[in-house]
Amino acid sequence: MADDIRFFELNTGAKIPSVGLGTWQSSPGLVGDAVHAAVKAGCRHIDCAQIYGNEKEVGLVLKKLFEDGAVTREDMWITSKLWCTDHAPEDVPEALDRTLRDLQLDYVDLYLIHWPVRMKKGSVGFKPENLTDTDISATWRAMETLYDSGKARAIGVCNFSTKKLSDLLDVARVPPAVDQVECHPVWQQNKLRSLCKSKGVHLSGYSPLGSPGTTWVKLEVLKNPILRTIAEKLGKTPAQVALRWGLQKGHSVLPKSTNEARIKENLNVFGWSIPDDLFAKFSEIEQARLIRGASFVHDTFGPYRSYEEFWDGEI
Ligand code: A2P
Repeated sequence: MADDIRFFELNTGAKIPSVGLGTWQSSPGLVGDAVHAAVKAGCRHIDCAQIYGNEKEVGLVLKKLFEDGAVTREDMWITSKLWCTDHAPEDVPEALDRTLRDLQLDYVDLYLIHWPVRMKKGSVGFKPENLTDTDISATWRAMETLYDSGKARAIGVCNFSTKKLSDLLDVARVPPAVDQVECHPVWQQNKLRSLCKSKGVHLSGYSPLGSPGTTWVKLEVLKNPILRTIAEKLGKTPAQVALRWGLQKGHSVLPKSTNEARIKENLNVFGWSIPDDLFAKFSEIEQARLIRGASFVHDTFGPYRSYEEFWDGEI
């Protein structure tokens, strides 16, 4: 019987369900049905963010699921993220309160700094002139206060390079529990993974399928020949093998889908495993980052003048 890998334990002692439903780019009008279908299919982890613009709809569905007795609040793991315009320490508590109101919750299981970038308070969109000086230590101290209050039962970061995570670990009173980053067989995050492992930070992978269908993604992870060959051998879909690979590597995966059949397919990654000889083949896959964060890098505005600086060479 394959090891099921249903949860990973965080440095807080909490257990994060290993497969979460991603809600980035899930349109309002579709995201609610997706959350409903996922929970009915056994998913207990929903990955949200204020900037996705759909937390109210997620909240309505969660409330209904709780009222109907389909699941309890304690059964569910809900993550949300602090947007860049709310990095000023005095704005952090209000940002979480807004998210809690939208999600109709008293607490989130995990609250993350969405990007290591501050944008001017109240600014809208991704104009370069919205970028401003970033002070991660100050923002993190405000995150720690949310952790102390119990409104965020764990805190962490997103899109932090190995260096940025390491710098944060040097100054944090409450160490980040999670770094959520792009992670799939074509961008395996080996350097960050080894820091996370040595420091007890859990790596969580977004775009675990390589975000197929997104116009700005040119490389199709699910069409990778090594992945496809392994999937054929195992009688699984490339998506299932990409997700199972993540679990066996030790990170949680956050596939986004608003399609009920694909939501179920993405949860069907337990009770089987990728054997060692096939698992080893993933190390032969040529590596390429798909998500560069173009909106956060500018040669005049903001703290990062180049992708090199933004990702500290991990590009
Ligand atoms: P859809 O929502 O129509 O299912 P990622 O999680 O890597 O960002 O990928 C999300 C994209 O992958 C969405 O476009 C989603 O479309 C699609 N997708 C989700 N699950 C699968 C699957 N099992 N097979 C193929 N594509 C999928």
